[in-house]
Amino acid sequence: MSEFVPEINRRRTFAIISHPDAGKTTLTEKLLLFGGAIHVAGAVKSNKIRKTATSDWMEIEKQRGISVATSVMGFEYEGYKINILDTPGHQDFAEDTYRTLTAVDSVIIVVDAAKGVEAQTLRLMEVCRMRRTPVMIFVNKMDRDGIEPFDLLDELEQRLQINARPLSWSIGAGPHFRGVYNIFEGKLDLYTPSKQFITESVEFKDIAGQELEKYISRQEAVKLRSDLELIEGVYPVFPSEDGMKRYLAGDLAPVFFGSALNNFGVKELLDCFVRIAPSPLPVQSAERTVVPEDDAFSGFVFKIHANMDPNHRSCIAFLKICSGKFERNNNYRHIRLDKMMKFSQATAFMAQRKETVDEAFAGDIIGLPDTGNFKIGDSVTAGETLHFKGLPSFSPEMFKYIENTDPMKTKQLNKGIEQLMDEGVAQLFTNQFNGRKIIGTVGQLQFEVIQYRLLHEYGAQCRWEPLNLYKACWIECDSAEVLDNFKKRKYQYMALDREGRDVFLADSSYVLSMVQQDFKGIRFHFSSEY
Ligand code: G4P
Repeated sequence: MSEFVPEINRRRTFAIISHPDAGKTTLTEKLLLFGGAIHVAGAVKSNKIRKTATSDWMEIEKQRGISVATSVMGFEYEGYKINILDTPGHQDFAEDTYRTLTAVDSVIIVVDAAKGVEAQTLRLMEVCRMRRTPVMIFVNKMDRDGIEPFDLLDELEQRLQINARPLSWSIGAGPHFRGVYNIFEGKLDLYTPSKQFITESVEFKDIAGQELEKYISRQEAVKLRSDLELIEGVYPVFPSEDGMKRYLAGDLAPVFFGSALNNFGVKELLDCFVRIAPSPLPVQSAERTVVPEDDAFSGFVFKIHANMDPNHRSCIAFLKICSGKFERNNNYRHIRLDKMMKFSQATAFMAQRKETVDEAFAGDIIGLPDTGNFKIGDSVTAGETLHFKGLPSFSPEMFKYIENTDPMKTKQLNKGIEQLMDEGVAQLFTNQFNGRKIIGTVGQLQFEVIQYRLLHEYGAQCRWEPLNLYKACWIECDSAEVLDNFKKRKYQYMALDREGRDVFLADSSYVLSMVQQDFKGIRFHFSSEY
């Protein structure tokens, strides 16, 4: 075991995910305030704007008032090194978020107390479930009228398919919100609706005594006592060995209530989080399970961010370190290219600043300047051949033919498409019948981003042609003959993905179910790994 185990153990790398507007940005900002990484509220939002102002293609983002970029914010808090991976809230960039989730060791889900579980939260939770990612839930906006907390817990359990365990409990809600009882620490936290200030909290292990009624009304005290009794009776015991095991297995989600905007319940969440959230977890590669404490460095690229600096056409490849220690100017092996590379300008993301990194440890995210060497999913190691398993591609939701409108720029267009696909902006399929290129995305916005970037970065012009498709299905079959027969019969609807895998393009759910009935030997998959 390596001498840097203490460094690894103190790392907490996670993402905050939510449906847009639930309060992800506000919560992130409050966490950064606690870490001293920023000093005024509003800094996270203004950073978003600054970024858009320095990068042309992000005009689209500015106009729409959403964050396209996924970035990393690292800070120190009470001896812990915290890395928050930000994810774009807009659902058109869901793929980006899915991939970011491959690089985290746990997540915090923010839920709006009035809206409960929303569409985007459900989809993100599916990915967490696939990966058995440990989940904590923050029920936000308790200062507003919301769903009754026990009903909300039921909804969380049913719709997110996870067991909930409240670790704080609200006293009143909306205009009658008085505060929360911090079950985890046995404290009564009273609410002062003042932005940016940490509220005072009273140590209160015994809520049975009359003392409680000095702080809240008799009626509120009676309700709190009976609610807590119910919680202890109905929900799994936590903290406990079994509870921790279930949390780490992604089966049990501790739940906190609060108001990010009012900075209420956030410190409670953070203090519990650093204590129970996992430090970097082992990562599966095709060859073996890689444990973070391994001496040798290894990591994988989960995101490529283009043109952060508008003066240079460069990219940054975001690499999650899976094991060991990264050292500046050491030689590392790019596995896919089988090439040794030296990184003198790798960056760390501390307190929203990029700075050159001399060393970084398993759990950290570093940015590698890239001139086209990296693809999403690439592995980099100290020498050993390792292929980290990423997240499969999911069937896109929207499809369009991409057509070249400037024949003089065919080369540029093809290069642009290839590079944008390497970055994971969208998926490319080639129709086997007519040879035409099909771009698949999860939302309309990505088509606009692609068109804009092809023009501004590659000088190539394209036009979209409508294509009415329902799903792209990766197909497999035990018999080569049956597969061949299927491909011949459906040749108009067959395409290849970028890896050369067969994909069936179904134009409606009806067609798909008919085909599934008619060709029993063929298995249809909605994701590229099965
Ligand atoms: P997101 O990143 O998940 O999309 O959400 P964001 O933090 O941007 O918050 C969405 C809106 O909800 C913001 O209001 C924010 O101020 C508000 N909000 C966040 N936390 C709370 C809370 O605890 N209580 C209440 N009442 N509101 C909260 P906005 O009007 O859209 O933006 P802004 O003008 O306030 O910045």
